[in-house]
Amino acid sequence: MPRATTHHVCSACGHESAKWHGRCPGCEEWGTLVEEAKPVPQAASARAGGGGGRGRALTPVPLSQVEAPRVARLRTGIGELDRVLGGGLVPGSLVLLGGSPGIGKSTIVTSALGNVVAGGGSALYVSGEESAAQVRLRAERLGPSVLAVPIVAETDLDAVVATIEAERPDVCVVDSVQVLHAAGLTGAPGSVGQVREVAGRLMRVAKTCGIAIVLVGHVTKEGALAGPRVLEHLVDCVLSFEGERERTYRTLRALKNRFGSTNEAGVFEMRDEGLVEVEDASARFVAEATPRAPGSAILCSMEGSRPLLVEVQALVAPTELVPPRRMANGIDRNRLALVLAVLTRHGGMAKQPALPDAHEGVLAVGSADVFVSVAGGVRIDEPGADLAIALAIASAARGVPLGSSDRPLATFGEIGLTGELRHVAHPDRRLAEAAKFGLGNVLHPGPALPDLGAALRASIDRSVGQQRAA
Ligand code: TYD
Ligand code: MG
Repeated sequence: MPRATTHHVCSACGHESAKWHGRCPGCEEWGTLVEEAKPVPQAASARAGGGGGRGRALTPVPLSQVEAPRVARLRTGIGELDRVLGGGLVPGSLVLLGGSPGIGKSTIVTSALGNVVAGGGSALYVSGEESAAQVRLRAERLGPSVLAVPIVAETDLDAVVATIEAERPDVCVVDSVQVLHAAGLTGAPGSVGQVREVAGRLMRVAKTCGIAIVLVGHVTKEGALAGPRVLEHLVDCVLSFEGERERTYRTLRALKNRFGSTNEAGVFEMRDEGLVEVEDASARFVAEATPRAPGSAILCSMEGSRPLLVEVQALVAPTELVPPRRMANGIDRNRLALVLAVLTRHGGMAKQPALPDAHEGVLAVGSADVFVSVAGGVRIDEPGADLAIALAIASAARGVPLGSSDRPLATFGEIGLTGELRHVAHPDRRLAEAAKFGLGNVLHPGPALPDLGAALRASIDRSVGQQRAA
């Protein structure tokens, strides 16, 4: 019988087994055994000898004497993508681009390769998911320069590696890492063992040949990179493409970047002719805002180093459901729960406010359905959004608009558990962006606005007063 070339290793405890088990015999965890290629057995002599074996001792060098050649980055010609990458692709690096199916991963990488070729660089598109003809149809929509991109449609890892080594392009895209198949392993393409092996081999090719390789990976509904989650530590850079398929706006973020900041984000819009960079995102979101409607606030947020104004909308509706519904779109659910809790405890939103002329539609948020959404399908992932969420909910619950007749209310700030308002990063840039769009009066944490109660008085109560005066 031929000797097996693979074994199964538990990803939790490292237990090795010749056979696959649903439950690890070592640590009794379920579903942790992953097929891996067996390491080449070392020569017996190497293992002999005392303690540390026969390795050659190395001489450590101070970091200042380490040679670090400044390699020119390869621009993809897509400004937002280059910025998120930290200035372009680094030769010899491995980038993982994750996102849910249909979000536009293939579209953005195809355009990027088209730009590289148009700029005199060489590129290679390895398509495992779609046939070359399908990719061509997409390329036709994206413009003539994209048609010059060389493509191979292949899922066999050995063939792909051989092609990359023979072609030696500047950039290679593998779309997607989950469909490539390493012949040595019996696991199905996309299984953890396969994906790890595929990425490991491509990484060696990238490093030895100095090629920038972009791996496209699908993300499951839960947000985990299916399989590729296990790649995050291996690759140099993890980009995540987010948004909703039905909406037009998409955000590109770096979750990990060995060559740049992870704070950057790019905003794109999906159009008929492909993904278009949105540079004036704030202008659009402000223009679409609804200042006269209760439950709308403009959030001065930061997308990395870039300020972005987005509209946060809330709806508070009576319900028979216990517990009531809480829906969050574009913000973290836990963040919403926290803001609601603070609103009820410290914002006086638990009971019907005992206003002398409490008008209809005043709802207690604790027992009503609460929906919060960031307009345009943008995802906001920073604590500075708390105050905008709280004010939008309060405004919806009390049925009073936050903004004045012509302009919406702009705000930002983090809410602490005791109801205090906390400072967030870059207040000056946020204020400057708001001022740029004529939103001069921004509610934000400061001596005049120490807590949530003060913010509610300065916004909702003032609006109620204005309504009464009118
Ligand atoms: P695609 O890049 O194939 O998504 P992914 O590789 O992430 O699965 O494209 C996603 C969607 O974008 C697809 O449903 C069609 C749409 N689309 C456009 O609206 N305009 C275009 O120019 C292109 C190429 C695609
Ligand atoms: Mg695709």
